[in-house]
Amino acid sequence: MIEKKDINILAIESSCDETAAAVVRNGREVRSNVISSQIDLHKLYGGVVPEIASRKHIEKINQVIEQALEEAETTLDDIDAIAVTYGPGLVGALLVGVAEAKAIAFAKQLPLIGVHHIEGHISANYIEHPSLKPPFLCLVVSGGHTHLVRVKEYGKYEIIGRTRDDAAGEAYDKVARAIGLGYPGGPKIDRISKEGNSDAIVFPKPHMENYDFSFSGLKSAVLNYINGCKMKGESFAPEDVAASFQKAVVEVLVEKSMKAVEEYGVKQFAIAGGVASNTTLRKAMEEACKVRGIEFFYPSPIYCTDNAAMIGVAGYYEYLAGTRHGLDLNAIPNLKIGER
Ligand code: KG4
Ligand code: ZN
Repeated sequence: MIEKKDINILAIESSCDETAAAVVRNGREVRSNVISSQIDLHKLYGGVVPEIASRKHIEKINQVIEQALEEAETTLDDIDAIAVTYGPGLVGALLVGVAEAKAIAFAKQLPLIGVHHIEGHISANYIEHPSLKPPFLCLVVSGGHTHLVRVKEYGKYEIIGRTRDDAAGEAYDKVARAIGLGYPGGPKIDRISKEGNSDAIVFPKPHMENYDFSFSGLKSAVLNYINGCKMKGESFAPEDVAASFQKAVVEVLVEKSMKAVEEYGVKQFAIAGGVASNTTLRKAMEEACKVRGIEFFYPSPIYCTDNAAMIGVAGYYEYLAGTRHGLDLNAIPNLKIGER
C-alpha cells in the first residue's frame, strides 16, 4: 500500500512590519508560526517607515526561519515547498522575503510558490475551521486593504468591492493618532470604545454605490470634530469619539457584507485581516449572519494580523493546483489578486 505523504510547506511573510516564518502541514495544520514584530520600532514615528522595515527584515529573517523549523521539529530536508508573499506590500520589505525564499528553493531544489498577501489573509480562516470551504464570501479588512472577495474555489477569487481611499485599518490608525492613542490604533480604539457611548456623536456613514467602501470622509469628520473642540477650548471624551467612529465603520462593513451575502446566496461568510480581530465587528457580523442563517467564521487574533502560517495555507492550495514560480520571481508592490 502506498502511504499518502504529508506535504510540509515553509512559508515566509515580510510584506510590511512583521518578519514571519511558519511550517504548515497538509494545508491546515500549523506546526510553527514565528512572528517578529517591528511595531515598537515604528511606534516612535507614528507609523511604518519602509526603509527601517526592510533593514529590520534582513536582520531577523534567518533567525525567524530557523526558529520556525526548530519549533516544528523539522529541517529543510523535510520541507516539500517554499511559499512566500510576493505582493502587495512595501517593495523593499517584500524583496527580503522573496530573495530568501528563492535562495532556499535554489539551494534545496524545492518548488517555489509566490503567494498573494490577501489570499493569505483569507486562507487564515482555514486553519481553525475545517468546515469552511469555497464557495464563500470574505471581507478582508486590514491596515492596507478593505476588500469584499468572492472565493469561488481554492485559489480563485473575484473582488466585488474595495475601498476607494483609506483602508479600514488605516482609518482606525489615523483616528487613534488624532485622539492621542498612538500606533497601531486599531486595538486601542477597540479597547477604549467599550467605555464610550457610540451614540454620543453622529458621524456620517460613508455610502458608496455597489460594494465599494470609502473611509476618508469619515476620518476627516472625526478629525474636524476633534479640531473643532480644541478651537472652542472644549474637551472631548476620547472613548465617545472612538465608540462613535467605530459604530459608523462597523455598520457600513456589516451592511455591505450582508447585502453581498444575500445577492450571491452563499452559506458561509468569513472576515480576515488585522481589523477582523475587532470585537465589535465580530459581534455585529455574528448577529447579522445568525439572523440570515449563514455560518460565520473569523480567525484567532494571531492569525488576523500578518503572519506566515496563512501564507503556508494559501501556498498549499496553490501547490496542489500546480502553481510554481521560477527564480525570476519578483516582489510586486501592487500585485492584483485574481484568477489563476
Ligand atoms: O493585517 P494587518 O496586520 O496588516 C496589513 O496587512 O495591513 O493589519 C493591521 C491593521 C492595523 O491598521 C491595526 O490598527 C488593525 O489592523 N487592527 C485592528 C485591531 N487589531 C489590529 N483594528 C481594529 N480593531 C482591532 N482589534
Ligand atoms: Zn496583512
